[in-house]
Order: sequence, then structure tokens, then C-alpha cells
Amino acid sequence: MYILPSSLCYNRISRKLRDAGDAGRNRCILQFAIMKHVYSSEQFTTGFITELFALTDKIRANPGDFQDALKGKVIATLFYEPSTRTRLSFESAAVILGAQVISTENAREFSSAIKGETLEDTLKVVEGYADVIIMRHFEDDSAERAQKVLSVPFINAGSGKREHPTQALLDLYTIYREFGRLNNLRVACVGDLLRGRTVYSLVKSMMLFENNSFIFIAPENSRIHADMKNKLNMSNIDFIETDMLDESILRKVDVVYMTRIQKERFDNEAEYLRAKGKLILTNKLVNCMKDDAIVMHPLPRVDEIDVEVDANPRARYFTQAHNGLWVRMAILAGYKNA
Ligand code: CP
Repeated sequence: MYILPSSLCYNRISRKLRDAGDAGRNRCILQFAIMKHVYSSEQFTTGFITELFALTDKIRANPGDFQDALKGKVIATLFYEPSTRTRLSFESAAVILGAQVISTENAREFSSAIKGETLEDTLKVVEGYADVIIMRHFEDDSAERAQKVLSVPFINAGSGKREHPTQALLDLYTIYREFGRLNNLRVACVGDLLRGRTVYSLVKSMMLFENNSFIFIAPENSRIHADMKNKLNMSNIDFIETDMLDESILRKVDVVYMTRIQKERFDNEAEYLRAKGKLILTNKLVNCMKDDAIVMHPLPRVDEIDVEVDANPRARYFTQAHNGLWVRMAILAGYKNA
């Protein structure tokens, strides 16, 4: 079993052993300790991912064994941006594990942020009410700031344009279940790659595994950030960039990871209109892909995947969203002793 380095290990090993001996009362044996805060995909290691997915599979096989894992805990969800999947899957995961949830789904308007309270002050107050805080925020550095001030565990549910680490974990889990591996894969990332946090977190996570390569397909004004290209170059990882989503590319890939052109993140309407509607995945294009290739999307989609693709055997985006529940249960279960 992989053990996290002690600096990342929130639960003490001795506690884990105690819990293993306490299985009669708790009904579940957890040998997994999550890192104290999950704020960036740059924290992940191959060992952590392997161990998390082993627990995810275990929970998925016997969810009833984990129903008391977080009994007596309170989970706070603070969302300063809209969400369907991330908030509801985390809240569902918490409830299934026996925790109770307190939530503000539009914290930008309905928390005291509207009165001028700083993010740091809000978090320092909420940590008095909850054992774990899950937050989505519109600023790129919000998760970094949160983990610096919090003494209770913090999970980043999406920060600005650069990080969505738990999305990356469920994306990796979906790929892992499909291919049985996370290496030797060619992934096409398509859409608003400049402003899309899911792609940054996914690519950084896939860089941990050998021989993965990337094709970045984006409109000219939405190309992936130079920082990401520098990281890939420094690690000698193959990638190409193009603005064409065509058969010649799709024939070669194992995964096509579509993303939305994010209207809300453009500086102005004219720039958005220049990017909108340029890259649409149709059934005709998907049928050019290898038989075992898959189509993913973090969702929500607008028009970038034709609804006719939903019935294509390569479509995995709804499975991917549902996998989020199991992966987030495993993440939260790691806070059993928080
Ligand atoms: N994929 C994702 O983050 O979806 P939501 O915005 O609905 O949470």
C-alpha cells in the first residue's frame, strides 16, 4: 500500500491502525489518508492517485460499508460560482457517508462577501462551523489563499481559470476505468483552453504518467496558456496545437476531451463571438475515432457536442459526471479522522 509522505498526511498512521481495529463499530476499514488540503492538481502523485482509485473502487463495490464513515461530521460547501455537478456530487457524497451539509450556493451574492467581507475572514469564520470546507471561487489564487488561512481541511471545487483538481481526479478515474491504465495515451483537448481550468488540472495530472501526449485544439483567441506549454516542454512531453477539429486528428487519439467556450470568462462579447461555434463535435467526426476511443467533457456543454453523439458508444461524459460521486466519496472518506 502506498503511504503519503508524512508532510502530506493528515491522519496519523497510528489512527489508521486504530480504525482498522475498530471496524465492528465503524463498519468500514479505511486505510486511506487524504492530504490535509486538496487545492491544486500539482499536489498529486502517482501513488496518491492509485490509492484514491483503489478506495473509490472499494466504495463503489460496497457503498453501504461506508455509510457511517463521516458520521457526526459537518461539511460546508461555499460556492461563489454556479455549479451543478461539483456541488451536488460533493453534497451527495457527504450525505451518503453520514455527514451533514451546510451550504451557500451563491456565496458571491448571499454571503457577507456582498457587504465587503474578505475571503480570508469568511473562511476563518466558517471553519468554526465545519470539519471540512469545499469552495468554488472565481479568483485564480483563491484556493491557494484559502489553504493558507484554514486549519480545517479545505477542498478546491474550482478556482478561477486555472485549477479544478477534483475534476481532474474524476477525469483520470474515468480514463483509468476505460483503458485500465493512465499512461501511453494520446489526448485531444478541445475548446476554450485559455480559460478552462479543467484542462489545466487534467494535463498536469496526466503528465505524472509516462508517454502521454496532447493535441490542443482551440480557436486562435483561446489557445492554451504559455505557462502550460512551458511545463510540457520542460518535461519533454509531446504536444501540438491547432485550430482544426478534423478527422485526421480524431483518428489518432484515445481520448477527446471537449470543453465549453466559456462566455462568462471573456473580457468582451466580440472576443467571445470570435471563438463561439468554431469547434463542434458531430457524430460523423466521432465515428472516425478508434473503436475503443472515448469522448469526454467536464460539462456543462452548450453546442460543442451534438446531442446525436450522446448515443455513440464512445460517449462517456455522463458516465464521467457520475464517476464524480464515487471519487468525491473517496476524497471525503479520507477525512474520517479530521
Ligand atoms: N464539471 C463541473 O465543474 O461542473 P459544474 O460547474 O456543474 O460543477
